[in-house]
Amino acid sequence: MSMNGYCCIACGTNQTVGFDGFLCPDCGGNLDIRYDYDAVAKQLDDGFPEGDRDIFRFAALLPLDRPRSLFPLRVGGTPLYRAIRLGKPLGMQELYLKDETLNPSASLKDRASAVVIGHALDTGAGVVSVASTGNAGSSLACLAAATGLEAMVFVPAKAPPAKLTQMLAFGARVLAVDGNYDDAYDLCLAASREFGWLNRSTGYNPFTREGKKTCAFEIWQDLDRRVPDRVVVSTGDGNTLSAIWKGWCDLKAVGLIDRLPKIDCVQSAASAAINATIGRIRNSDDANVNWSALKIRKVEASTIADSIAVDRPRDGLAAVKAVIQSGGEAVTVTDSDILAAIPEIARASGVFPEPAAAAPWAGVKQMRGSHQIGSKELVVCVVSGTGLKDIVNTGAAVGKPHLIKPALGAVRDCLRA
Ligand SMILES: Cc1ncc(COP(=O)(O)O)c(C=O)c1O
Ligand SMILES: [Zn+2]
Repeated sequence: MSMNGYCCIACGTNQTVGFDGFLCPDCGGNLDIRYDYDAVAKQLDDGFPEGDRDIFRFAALLPLDRPRSLFPLRVGGTPLYRAIRLGKPLGMQELYLKDETLNPSASLKDRASAVVIGHALDTGAGVVSVASTGNAGSSLACLAAATGLEAMVFVPAKAPPAKLTQMLAFGARVLAVDGNYDDAYDLCLAASREFGWLNRSTGYNPFTREGKKTCAFEIWQDLDRRVPDRVVVSTGDGNTLSAIWKGWCDLKAVGLIDRLPKIDCVQSAASAAINATIGRIRNSDDANVNWSALKIRKVEASTIADSIAVDRPRDGLAAVKAVIQSGGEAVTVTDSDILAAIPEIARASGVFPEPAAAAPWAGVKQMRGSHQIGSKELVVCVVSGTGLKDIVNTGAAVGKPHLIKPALGAVRDCLRA
């Protein structure tokens, strides 16, 4: 394994171990896993080995001792679709959808859970806990079931029923917290400390970023080693976005690519703490950001896109850095933009997103409208979770079936209407 310690995202100090599990011993900031990139570059030479289409083919850039052992499910290897009909009305020549709905628990979170569970297997942890808006919990529950570990999931009691059902079906212990995601997060942290569980929670656990970055590796491979101009990512805590940025940075660090894409951050207007911070930085006269002093102001999230409803982003600093360093846009969309994007994506591509997963397309439309995206740019929207996970909100966006009598005349009436 070529993992080479940690680096603090806030103060920039290299660390060999985290304190309290995974935080920076100097400042309490989130950690990022480092690698010996020269050693990996020699190992990879001309790219990743061929073989099974799952995330473990990227083992050279994963922080695991035994990447594939005991892991029966296929995580990753999801399709990258060229979305010609979706992009055409906007004159977009190269629009792609990375269809993360096809992971085992039907969201991108499985990439993160797989690496955290790999770490649990490496270290002998028996119980893995997580705070979740829903998808991280159903993902952990799914992969824990596949590997015989115990999952403890802390979710807001109002999480979509489909996500709760998934967790329960997989046999997780589900603690539905009478509060919001932030309450669930703090409780999970305290309980994991108290009972000695391996805490997978986003931001706190640096192994999640390592799993999610494989999404970038796959996009690169499926584009025949081209680098897109932009990758557009739906953002709540900021971990997914920072991970996808890290994936591209890793490819560059090992010499497989020589340029980086822009990473665009799409947030709901009703949950936009990260975009507000990016806006403040870009509007300030100071060209140098003091990352260790940067504060992300808490908001009161209320979006229908439950997966990105976050008051206090738990990996916000990493996401802000990624957008600023990549030169990407921070795009804020309304809930009605998000709802409208669901059937548009579904009807033009055959991919059915949950509200959070439709947000990138809503963001792309806005950026095309304001000419922030050119017609010739190669744009990848990450479709991060399936619409079946939230049929209440997705249902509101797609209309109702025709209720008819079982008679041919009724079909005729319907066709005329
Ligand atoms: C479907 C989906 N999209 C996007 C996100 C945003 O990821 P992050 O919270 O790391 O920004 C999540 C997180 O729960 C999600 O479940
Ligand atoms: Zn630090």
